[in-house]
Amino acid sequence: ETGAITLDPGYKNTGSCESAITFLDGEKGILRYRGYSIEELAEKADFLEVVYLLIFGELPNKEQLTTFRQDIVAQSFVNEDMKKVIDGFPSTAHPMGMLSSLTSALIAFNPKSVNVSSEEDMYKAIVKLLAKFPTLAAWTLRKKETLPLENRDTNVGYVESLLKMMFQKPGEEYKFNPTVVDALDKLLILHADHEQNCSTSTVRIVGSSHAGLFASISAGVSALWGPLHGGANQAVIEMLEEIKADGGDTSKFIDKAKDKDDPFRLMGFGHRVYKNFDPRARIIKKAADEVLDALGVNDPILDIAKSLEKAALEDPYFVERKLYPNVDFYSGIIYRAMGIPTEMFTVMFAVGRLPGWIAQWREMRLGGEPIGRPRQVYVGEPLRSFKEVDNR
Ligand code: SDX
Repeated sequence: ETGAITLDPGYKNTGSCESAITFLDGEKGILRYRGYSIEELAEKADFLEVVYLLIFGELPNKEQLTTFRQDIVAQSFVNEDMKKVIDGFPSTAHPMGMLSSLTSALIAFNPKSVNVSSEEDMYKAIVKLLAKFPTLAAWTLRKKETLPLENRDTNVGYVESLLKMMFQKPGEEYKFNPTVVDALDKLLILHADHEQNCSTSTVRIVGSSHAGLFASISAGVSALWGPLHGGANQAVIEMLEEIKADGGDTSKFIDKAKDKDDPFRLMGFGHRVYKNFDPRARIIKKAADEVLDALGVNDPILDIAKSLEKAALEDPYFVERKLYPNVDFYSGIIYRAMGIPTEMFTVMFAVGRLPGWIAQWREMRLGGEPIGRPRQVYVGEPLRSFKEVDNR
C-alpha cells in the first residue's frame, strides 16, 4: 500500500510492530479496520460487529454474532465487592482515574484471566472485559452523581445498556432515544481502533511483559486520559466554553495557540499522522449537525466550533503545519447534546477504544512478540569518577 514504511530489522523489540488490524494513510485521510473503510463501517455496521471484526479479523455471520452477544451478556455481572473499590473514591475523583483503577481491580476478582496464553482462555478473558468494562464506565458517572451502581440490563443491547446504567434515575423507567443510541453506536465505532497511537502502544508494551489483559488495558486507560490524547475531547469543550465566556472572539485564542511562548494549543486540532484531514472528524462533524437537529438542541458552542475551524483553516500558521480538526474536535459536542457530562467524554472514548486495545493485545500475544524495549540514543555525561561530598 502507498505510505507503507519499512522498519529496520531491529524494530521487533522497540515497541514498533507489524499489525494486520488497522490501516491509516495520513496523507489521504484513509482509515480502515481489517480492510473495511471507516466510512462504510460507521454507516452500515453496529458497534458489536466492529468489535468482533477488530478482535477476530472477520465480520461475524449471524450465528457468530449471536453467540458473541450471548457470551458477553453471560459475563456482564460485576462482583458486588467491586462496589467497595469505587466506594473508596471521593465523588470529586476524575472518572478516568477511577476507570483505570477499577479495570485493574477486576484482576483480583478474575484471577484465571490474568496471564492467559491459549486462544480459548484469551477469548474468555476478552469476553469478560468487554462485558464488564461498560458497567465500570457507567459506575464512574454514578459515583460522581451519588446514584446507585446498577448492573447491566441483559434484555437490551450493548450500547443501550451502557446508556441505561449511566442515566437511569431510581424509580423511573429509562426511555431510549433512538437518535442517541445510534449516535453513540457510531461514535464508539469511530473510536474503536487507531493503529499504534499512544494508549494502544501502551497496551501492547505492557502486555508484552505478560502482565495480563486487564492490567494492560488499565494502563491504556491511563495513557488515554492525557489532554494531548483522548483527554482532548474534554479539553475541546472546556476551550469552547472559555471562548464563549470570553465573548466568542476566536481570533484571540488562535493567536494564543500560535504564540510560541504560550503553552496553549488549539485542542482538537492537529494529528501525528493525519496531515490533510481526520476522516473520523468529517463523519462526526456531520453527525453533530444531525444529532443536535434531531434532539432539538441549539448549542452555541457548535457555532463557535465551526467559526474556530473556519478561522484556523484559513490561517497560514495552521495551514503550513497541516493542523486540521481531529476526532476529538466535534465528538464532545455530540456527547454534550446527549447529556453526557464533560468529565465523562474520555471515558466514552475508552469504551469505544476497548476493542482496539484488546485486538492489538491479542495480536501481540498470539504473535509471540518479545518483551517491548524501546531503544534510546545516550546524550548524557561520558565516564567520570566519584567525588566525595566535601569536594563537590
Ligand atoms: C488523539 O495517535 C493517534 O491516533 C491519536 C488519536 C487516536 O485515535 O488514538 O487520533 C486520538 O489523540 C487525537 C489528538 C487529540 N489531541 C489534541 O487535539 C491536542 C491538540 N493537538 C496537539 O497537541 C498535537 O497536534 C498532537 C499532540 C495531536 C500531535 O502533535 P505532533 O504531531 O507531535 O505535532 P507537534 O507537537 O510536532 O507540532 C508540530 C507543530 C508545532 O509547531 P512548530 O514547533 O513546528 O512551530 O504544530 C504545532 C506545534 O506547536 N501544533 C499546534 C497544535 N498541534 C501542533 N499548535 C497549536 N495548536 C495545536 N493543536
